[in-house]
Parts: sequence; C-alpha cells; structure tokens
Amino acid sequence: MDKLLIEGGVPLMGEIAISGAKNAALPILCAALLSAEPLHITNLPRLNDVRTMLRLLGQMGVKIVDEGRDAVTLDASGLDNPVAPYELVRTMRASVLVLGPLVARCGEARVSLPGGCAIGARPVDQHIKGLEAMGAEISVEQGYVHARAARLRGARLFTDMVTVTGTENLMMAAVLAAGDTVIENAAREPEVVDLANCLVAMGAQISGAGSDVIRIRGVDRLYGATHRVMPDRIETGTYLCAAAATGGSVRLTGTSTSYLDAVVDKLMDTGCDIVPERDAIRLKAPPKLTAVSIRTAPYPAFPTDMQAQFMAINAVADGTAVIRETIFENRYMHAVELARLGAEIRIDGNTAVVKGVPRLNGATVMATDLRASASLVVAGLVAQGTTLVDRIYHLDRGYEQLDRKLAALGARVRRTK
Ligand code: EPZ
Repeated sequence: MDKLLIEGGVPLMGEIAISGAKNAALPILCAALLSAEPLHITNLPRLNDVRTMLRLLGQMGVKIVDEGRDAVTLDASGLDNPVAPYELVRTMRASVLVLGPLVARCGEARVSLPGGCAIGARPVDQHIKGLEAMGAEISVEQGYVHARAARLRGARLFTDMVTVTGTENLMMAAVLAAGDTVIENAAREPEVVDLANCLVAMGAQISGAGSDVIRIRGVDRLYGATHRVMPDRIETGTYLCAAAATGGSVRLTGTSTSYLDAVVDKLMDTGCDIVPERDAIRLKAPPKLTAVSIRTAPYPAFPTDMQAQFMAINAVADGTAVIRETIFENRYMHAVELARLGAEIRIDGNTAVVKGVPRLNGATVMATDLRASASLVVAGLVAQGTTLVDRIYHLDRGYEQLDRKLAALGARVRRTK
C-alpha cells in the first residue's frame, strides 16, 4: 500500500496528538551505545527510520526490549560488533550517528559511508575531521569509514558549517574522551539540546547545548537513565500548514510553539490565528492565506525541513512568495510535482518564486523525499478532486500514522495499492 489517495477541499477540524521527534529519537537511540547500563526511552515515535536504527543497534549486540506503544529499553552491555553495514546505512543516512559513540566506547568502528540522497550530496567530512582532531585514526576503504582510538582526547573543534548530526556525533564522542572538548559553530537545534539532556541524565558533563559553543568534560563511564523524547516540531509544523492551507481550525497536543518560533511567525504573517497553550497549539486559518517569503537557515532561523510545506501553502495564497533554500543544494524536487497540480513555481538556482493560484486540481504525483512528500499531501488536501501521492514510504520514514491522524481531522484520505 504505497500510495495515498486524497479527496481534497475539506477544511481540517479537531484535535490530534503530536509524536516524539524523529530527529531527536535517532541520536538518542545511538547514545545507548555509550553505556553498559540500560537506557529507557519514552515518547519514541513508531517510524520506519526508528525501526531501521533499532535493527542497526541490534546487529551490534545491543539488547532491545520493546515495551509497546512508545517505549523501549536499550542495553548495550553486550556490544560486540561495532559495525554499521552498507545494507542498513544506505536506507538511512542518520546511521552515521553510531560512529562517534562506537569509537568512544569500543575504541573502533566500521561504518558505511552514507552517500548522497535526493536533497544533496551531504558529505560527512566534518564528522571525520572532528574525530581526527580528537585523536582517532581514520581511513576510508571500500566505502567504509574505519576509525580507531585507544581513547579519544578532548580538543577544540570548529565545524566549517553548522551541521546538526555532525555536532551530535562529536558531542557523543567527547563525553567519554580524556579531558575537555569545545565545539564551536555548533548546531543549536532543539534536537541537539534533547540529546545533550539525555547524555547528562546518563552522567555526562555538558554545558552550552542550544548555543553555538558546546563544552564537554569527558568522564570515564556513563550510567543507565530514563529519557522522554521531545515533541516533533516538524510534524507539528506540517499539520499547522495542512490546517492553514485547507482553511481549517485545529488543536495539536503534546507539542508547543517554543521550538517553532520562526514557523509560527510566518504562519501568522499568512493571516492564521495561532494560540499557544502550555502543552498544545491552536490554529485557525483565515478565509484566504497571504503569501509569505522564507529563507531557510540553521536554527533558530526558518527550518529547511519546513520549506516544502510552505511552498505548498504559498501555491494557493494571495500574492507571490520568494523562497531561498540555503542548506541543501537540491531541495526543490517537489516543485515540479506541485506544478502537476496546477501550481505556478519558477526555480532559479536556490531561489523559488511561487505565484499563488485561485485553486489546485487533483492529479497523480510522486514523492521523492520525506518533506517533499509532506508538501504533496498538504497540496492534495487543498486541491479540488482526487490526488494520488505515489511512493509514500518516504512519508512513513518521518510521520507516524499520518493517514489516521489526517482522517481524525476530517480529511478524506486512504492508503491504496
Ligand atoms: C539534519 O541532517 C536532519 N536530519 C535533517 O532532517 C535536516 O534537514 C538537517 O539536519 C538540517 O536541519 C537528522 O537530524 C537525522 P547537516 P544533517 O549536517 O545533520 C553540509 C528530515 O527531513 N555538511 O546539518 O545530515 C550538508 O551537506 C532531515 O528530517 C557538509 O558539507 O544535516 C548540508 O548542506 C532531512 N559536511 C549542510 O552541511 C558535513 O560533514 C547542513 O547539513 C556535514 C554537513
């Protein structure tokens, strides 16, 4: 069932719960590698990428106890195979997040190079550069990164660009290193902070997470802990866009605007009425959205993972929007698919000009990556008639039960062959 059939034109109404964050859960699962004691994780989203990460850790010798619904306990006392094979890594780039913890805990790691993906080349040179600065001997042979170090040592690290998983990998490596590490130009994403909170609960000494300078004092060992994964701000933003585009009124629970300032600001500029609550967000859409221009950049600026969804809402807004994508070199694959629904979009390098049209019409479209597929769903919910989104396995990587949640908001959607 890898297609989604959408009958558009229904304003989304009602309330749904937001799941735990994919981009926090993946590094937090890898943190379990750093300790011989159990790590109990709750609010874990049931996503294909999470399943892939659990399979990756399991084949390394990590014992995984699935406690149903949204909780697992990981026990890495039996870690005996510090290898991330190509078969698993090629399906999920985030597998590279095992590299730092394995070198730090086991003194060695063999991790397949992730290779590029639909949105860009996405090298991992900064991950490797940082580990080498901490004393790891690294060679790349037959598509694998081989890393060895009797014990990593603290160092002053500077990444050439802000890299989220690069910061997370080096932070995890540094918690067991001898001495102090400083990561400058660090990523400030909330998911980096959530990982740091989990590591501190395990006994790590970290300060400055959330700023662009993170300081880590290495310790000899980490302990067991319990950690609740933060809400998924991109899932939250996606449902807010779907409600905005369909002229709906929704309440999203188990989330908050505090991770989403840049996105909420832009949605309010479209004319949406947004009410933050302690642990929820309400959105009421205006009869007609106003186009808003965006420029993606590292947190706290506008997230690249929301760019595609905003292209979809601008496609039916009043006016013209200019979108600048500054993080990934090839993240406009959804534009040609949105054009199949009748959108007017002109791409020139990293700039897209979106001229709002009165209406979109249903058609068959193809998903190319996770967030591109989310934008096609948002557009399909607005379009008149039927939209068939092909290859929704991309969606299942990052959205938990999307069709059920949309149906709970009154959408006419169903999976089909
Ligand atoms: C994380 O990817 C997220 N993935 C991405 O979300 C997100 O789009 C991205 O950060 C930016 O916010 C996870 O957290 C699992 P980067 P990451 O390293 O860490 C270049 C989604 O939809 N770079 O911050 O891989 C890189 O090519 C996904 O959920 C190097 O050149 O992104 C890019 O242009 C998609 N060398 C830029 O930096 C390096 O060693 C930022 O990438 C590392 C990065």
